[in-house]
Amino acid sequence: MPLPVAFISSVSKEGIRNIAPYSCIMPVLRPLDLICLASAKRRDTLVNIKETREFVVNLAGTDLADKVVPTAKFTPPEVDEFKDAALEEKPSELIKAPGIAGCYAWMECELFKIYEESDYVLVMGKVLRLEVDDMYLTSDKTLDIQKAKPLMMIGSKKGMHFCTTSDIDIFEPFGAMFSNGKDPMAAKYLE
Ligand SMILES: Cc1cc2nc3c(=O)[nH]c(=O)nc-3n(C[C@H](O)[C@H](O)[C@H](O)COP(=O)(O)O)c2cc1C
Repeated sequence: MPLPVAFISSVSKEGIRNIAPYSCIMPVLRPLDLICLASAKRRDTLVNIKETREFVVNLAGTDLADKVVPTAKFTPPEVDEFKDAALEEKPSELIKAPGIAGCYAWMECELFKIYEESDYVLVMGKVLRLEVDDMYLTSDKTLDIQKAKPLMMIGSKKGMHFCTTSDIDIFEPFGAMFSNGKDPMAAKYLE
């Protein structure tokens, strides 16, 4: 299954900036303001999220594919991974952790809940703010995937095949799923 490749940026309690690519990441039902990511236990990202209770989910296009391995390699927590991977920060509006410049969208998140198992952790974040670069929005304010070229990955036995998505030009309103044609969640969306 093709998975998104999101860069998670966070800051340690000492103020060191960290970046890691995460593919095990998904929204939790509409209106898509809760997000869940699966993390191995030994991740600076996880330590930072637990300590500071915030993080940014940075959505990158294929042009940032060359930043995946540099940010995925083991790096000691005292190393600033923005500098290490030569990435510029994009200041966040509501949280201290900065986003990454050059992405097509940013979700500023605060820690909502952590489910800890013996060898993995599910981190749920509340999306406080979503920003999409106008350059990548269509006239009806949806993501123009032809322009954004979302970075994705298909895992195989030997490694990761990087890919992107393409539009098949089919649109259905949410209401189409309901017998009265109305979306019961409509009120949750601002015009
Ligand atoms: C494409 C890609 C996707 C990844 N997805 C995840 C993931 O979903 N969860 C996870 O724990 N690690 C994932 N990793 C591994 C982390 O990015 C890697 O261990 C990184 O060094 C962790 O950095 P940190 O210790 O600074 O948090 C992924 C790596 C790559 C290359």
